[in-house]
Amino acid sequence: MESAEIARRFLRFFEERGHKVVPSASLIAEDPTLLLVPAGMVPFKPYFLGQRKPPAARLASVQKCVRTPDIEEVGKTTRHATFFQMLGNFSFGDYFKEQAIPFAWELLTRSESDGGFAFPEEKLWVTVYLDDDEAIDIWHNKVGVPMERIQRRGLEDNYWHMGVPGPGGPCSEIYYDRGPEYGRDGGPVADEDRYLEVWNNVFMQYQLSAVRSKVDFDVAGELPAKNIDTGMGLERMATILQGVDNLYEIDTTYKILDSAAELTKTRYGRDPRADVSLRVIADHVRTGTMLVADGVMPGNEGRGYVLRRILRRSIRNLRLLGSGDERYMHELTEVTINAMGETYPELKVDAPQIHAVIDAEEASFLGTLRTGTAIFDVAVEETKRKSGTTLSGDQAFKLHDTYGFPIDLTLEMASEQGLKVDEEGFRRLMKEQREMAKADAAAKKTGNADISVFGQLLENAGKVEFLGYDQTSAESSVVGILVDGASVPVAGAGATVEIVLGRTPFYAEGGGQLADHGLLRTSGAEVDVLDVQSPIKGLVVHRGRVRVGEIRVGDEVQAEVDVERRKAISRSHSATHLVHRGFKNALGETAAQAGSENSPGRFRFDFTAAGAVPPSVLRDVEDEVNAVLINDLKVNAFYTSQAEARAMGALAMFGEKYGDEVRVVEIGDYSRELCGGTHVHSSGQLGLVKVLGEQSVGAGVRRVEALVGIDAFRFLARESLLVAQVTEQLKVRREELPERIEGIVTRLRTAEKDLEKLRSAQVLQIAGELAAQAHDLHGVSVVTHRAPDGTGPDDLRKLALDVRGRFPGDRPAVVVLAGVPSDRPVVVAAVNEAGRERGLKAGRLVGVAAKALGGGGGGKDDVAQGGGTRPEAIDEALRMVAETIAGQLA
Ligand code: SER
Repeated sequence: MESAEIARRFLRFFEERGHKVVPSASLIAEDPTLLLVPAGMVPFKPYFLGQRKPPAARLASVQKCVRTPDIEEVGKTTRHATFFQMLGNFSFGDYFKEQAIPFAWELLTRSESDGGFAFPEEKLWVTVYLDDDEAIDIWHNKVGVPMERIQRRGLEDNYWHMGVPGPGGPCSEIYYDRGPEYGRDGGPVADEDRYLEVWNNVFMQYQLSAVRSKVDFDVAGELPAKNIDTGMGLERMATILQGVDNLYEIDTTYKILDSAAELTKTRYGRDPRADVSLRVIADHVRTGTMLVADGVMPGNEGRGYVLRRILRRSIRNLRLLGSGDERYMHELTEVTINAMGETYPELKVDAPQIHAVIDAEEASFLGTLRTGTAIFDVAVEETKRKSGTTLSGDQAFKLHDTYGFPIDLTLEMASEQGLKVDEEGFRRLMKEQREMAKADAAAKKTGNADISVFGQLLENAGKVEFLGYDQTSAESSVVGILVDGASVPVAGAGATVEIVLGRTPFYAEGGGQLADHGLLRTSGAEVDVLDVQSPIKGLVVHRGRVRVGEIRVGDEVQAEVDVERRKAISRSHSATHLVHRGFKNALGETAAQAGSENSPGRFRFDFTAAGAVPPSVLRDVEDEVNAVLINDLKVNAFYTSQAEARAMGALAMFGEKYGDEVRVVEIGDYSRELCGGTHVHSSGQLGLVKVLGEQSVGAGVRRVEALVGIDAFRFLARESLLVAQVTEQLKVRREELPERIEGIVTRLRTAEKDLEKLRSAQVLQIAGELAAQAHDLHGVSVVTHRAPDGTGPDDLRKLALDVRGRFPGDRPAVVVLAGVPSDRPVVVAAVNEAGRERGLKAGRLVGVAAKALGGGGGGKDDVAQGGGTRPEAIDEALRMVAETIAGQLA
């Protein structure tokens, strides 16, 4: 049974039993205590806690999940995966154990023709929490499971919570017996490889306050109602129902694994080490693709770091399979998009952007690896020169810290060179660095508050209201102050602070728009706002410095945005929308936004395109956009439903597909885009948009930079002045400039070539003189000569050959010339056939000379060239050559 069919059956079964089916939420958790969604119930946490009313008392979903705590185990075992999908049915104060248990049993054991999964009853085992006699009663007396297949287990196995404060409760799990070939008899308590957990029924009835570990937590009390949260792993079910060994072999994953094997010319199932890599790649490329599709961008913190780590581990494992500098991520991502696209059609729609992000990360990591490899080679050479056998911890640390070289890569490459690595030293330096970073963050005083502090602030203060669409100044109150990441009641002059207001006109950096700057004024203090961020959804943090006085929690405050900066940023943001539309009009719908930055007077816009955008297209887009300015279209922002916005053709970044209500910004009828940013009132306010040019920022992604308003005007004015100066100097009219400059350049090139020819002729002229000056040494004609400074290596070589050719064929001859073309000496030797028969070798003679010159070189017996670093030693070098010849002939 295909994965997609398993999901369909599950949802249909529960829909028929009164459940409302809801789509998967984004992998980006809304919950401030979590980075990513690790379980199907996460989006419903507020319903369990009674904080929000669910859309229905019974829900069912297939939720995308990512779990990374066991990332190192992925691939080494076949049980771990970072991405999976959880099928779940949920009851909020509706049915409880007595119905949830039979539901699960019925769906698992029902025949396939009746919409079930047709598990033979005798193959199913169940576990319950230690003292949950109620559940045992239901399993045994209502469902009919014999007592010998019901087992009691403790907190570790049969109690479920989120790992953070929230709902929790005892659970009851259903296991499938894969048979004696997979392990020992005795049920799940004896062997969890043989008995696979397929379904977890959590009886959510408690609220946990502190959670220290899986088994160590405080129960604050009962939840407002008794709830059901169940989770059935889709990949686990597919493993069983598709009769394969593990989750890497099911329909959705094996395609990725196969394609990785094919690309790297390996075969799955041959070499255990290669198999680990193939599994890591299959798992990680899938996780990476799903994360990018939900709008996560690779970065060095939080979710961005999780994604970066996952993508880099994939690339790293491709290299372990011998991919070298080949780039395979694009193809693997494509296979993933096709494999997952049936369930998640948006993957196909957003494919160009997903590729752009992953390709760019691959390019950057391969670049990192290349630079690092060069540094690694130097370290190896150094170690070997000193006859060492171990790369120092220092070297490994530098590779890691400066070049982003993972330690396992260093270990492996060192072992290829027969070297060990001082891992202990490396780890010690890592630890020191971590401690320093901590101390540093504490000293830096900004931006270092850990996310839980923000979560607490949000809980205390509630969602911050943003007033900035209509106002640039407002009265508000201080609801929180952070200094060094910790909440404080008051901060004095000079302190670097993070301030949370109840409501604010300040725009927090987001959606490519830079943060507002400005001032907070209370009756006793003034705070310069230099940055505004939203570290978690719903919270706005103003970062800055107390200029004078003391600011306190509870103070009334006047918040004043720097209006000029805001206006200039808004102009850039509106211009970005126009340019986005312009490129789509010019290049087609695949030219999709991949990023942007709107700063005062200037913006950059990244978009997907197959290759460089021709200058003519840039000009056309610029033209079209400026025409929109002149037409002075009204800018209008409004809220509507996700579906409505899509139907209107509003452009959206990927990841922007969740949430019922969205904000749309339209500029006349020309552009319509989902956007939370601030904008001008009409397009005429932009004045002028000047596109500066475009460049590549990774495979498939182009970047244009542009100026807006007075900055665009000033740029053009400067260019105009420059042209005026050049025309003045060349004494031509403007339109004649290109032709005139081309003429000058052509003439210059011709003159340079003529000069070159002349010099060569001059050099060759002296060939005859040199041949005539040859002296005889034991019957061999010998010429050693220092050419005039400035004679190039090619001319030197030509001259040597010419001189050599002037001796009759049966006359042994050797010619050695040296010179200094620019600052380093060069030596050329040429020996004719008769000379070689006398045992003279050009390569050897050059070797002698080059050594004297402080360098090296060599070559064939007939002609050779070398050089050095000491021009002052030329005469000495020629003398030594002469001596060598004499010695050899004697
Ligand atoms: N929340 C439980 C789990 O993740 C059941 O859905 O296993």
